[in-house]
Amino acid sequence: MAQIIYGNEIASDIKVELKQRIEVYRQAGKRLPRLVVVLVGNHPASVSYVRGKEKACIATGMENELLRLDETVTQKELLEVVKDLNRNDQVDGILVQLPLPKHIDEQAVLHAIDPDKDVDGFHPYNLGNMMIGANTYLPCTPKGIMELLKRIGLDDLSGKTAVVIGRSNIVGKPIAQLLLQANATVMMTHSKTKNIKEITRQADILIVAIGKARYVQSDWIKKGAVVIDVGVNRDENQRLCGDVDFDSVLSKCGYITPVPKGVGPMTIAMLLSNTFDAYEKHIME
Ligand code: GUN
Repeated sequence: MAQIIYGNEIASDIKVELKQRIEVYRQAGKRLPRLVVVLVGNHPASVSYVRGKEKACIATGMENELLRLDETVTQKELLEVVKDLNRNDQVDGILVQLPLPKHIDEQAVLHAIDPDKDVDGFHPYNLGNMMIGANTYLPCTPKGIMELLKRIGLDDLSGKTAVVIGRSNIVGKPIAQLLLQANATVMMTHSKTKNIKEITRQADILIVAIGKARYVQSDWIKKGAVVIDVGVNRDENQRLCGDVDFDSVLSKCGYITPVPKGVGPMTIAMLLSNTFDAYEKHIME
């Protein structure tokens, strides 16, 4: 039987540690770290994610501000909001929740965020630094996945085959880079790949971020593999589930993350960790 990797417990340890580090600065008379989240419209999943981020900030003693903008906000107005936050030296981290409404150019907004406050790690400057292995803000979900792998003793992936399903800018593309930097042999698959399961069956580490409920079945899995499920879906009964058919894969793999309580809480913990890093940099300036 596989071991279940409870990301929520690991995330909770990370938050306790961050809380202690913030307290040390507070007692030394420093201001608190501050994260500003910009939410455009009322996308239900986004509202729920943003709430999770807010709760986590409160738990660690960080200041959190939520700027809610109407669905009809223009791109120019949104860019002005971002520029104001860039100029505000009390703000350490800026996160613009995605997706944005269709009339807004997402890349233009991500470009506008000061790379030094880009705690999502989505600015091309930070993505470029990640690509060359330089020290930078890493996108939160991929960073959280690498942390989970470390916690099960997989720091160095030399000789391991890693397969990624999904090629999003938020997860698939950056996690492939990080796995490569950890010396894995990486294969990327996506919705246009033929015979995906022939490829996934070679995976010692399988990262699934395709957004299809219970898409990956046990015959896709190499015995003993580490399976990381990034999916958050509702099944036909409106039950929360991942991209992996957890119950059937459990008896085949070596390790697996559950949904919920797996990758999701790690994403938030890494957001706080990036915000803390930005804060430390800012208060030392
Ligand atoms: N939407 C879904 N995941 C994310 C994330 O990690 N960051 C932002 N900004 N938006 C998201």
